[in-house]
Amino acid sequence: MNPQSEIQVRILEKPEPIPYALLLLADPSLEMIDAYLQNAVIYIAELQKETIGVYVLFSTGPETAEIKNIAVEPVHQGKGVGKMLLEHAAQMAKASGCNTLLIGTADSSISQLSLYQKAGFKITGLKKDFFSHNYDQPIYENGVQCKDMVILSKGLNSSY
Ligand code: COA
Repeated sequence: MNPQSEIQVRILEKPEPIPYALLLLADPSLEMIDAYLQNAVIYIAELQKETIGVYVLFSTGPETAEIKNIAVEPVHQGKGVGKMLLEHAAQMAKASGCNTLLIGTADSSISQLSLYQKAGFKITGLKKDFFSHNYDQPIYENGVQCKDMVILSKGLNSSY
């Protein structure tokens, strides 16, 4: 188990190097990553000054934010860091006045779909052919080609 109390999550400041290796674990397109980083806030999780996780929060409207990317270093996966980052993102989005947090994943991303639903997200939409249209190379996961993007939403107000 990671000593989660020792993990600090903070905003990555502009002059600091962008953790591309981590971001590329979640999104194979550097071009897509650079496009959404233009208008997003990068949060990093640090354990003893080592960056072990990242998420990217993007404002999609006055009351809606989207997690555009989330990744944890492979040696630290499966220990609750991803879940902690999802909770952190919900707190940050709520603190900035949002009532809904979105996250998208591939139709083939079985484990991510289960993680997000366990973290309180519900499937609310589908971007048809998102991966086949926006990525040069076909992406395969679990032996299945990623085609559509599944959109999941989490209400940030208790009355949602
Ligand atoms: N299969 C099934 N369940 C899984 C899973 C897997 N591969 N990985 C995590 N889970 C479940 C855990 O069992 C846990 O459930 P629990 O709270 O009931 O025990 C829950 O999801 C949280 O797991 P956690 O340990 O917090 O996840 P993580 O730290 O490994 O982070 C990712 C999850 C997806 C961020 C991480 O695996 C990762 O970086 N993957 C590569 C990049 C990626 O795919 N990003 C998302 C793109 S949409």
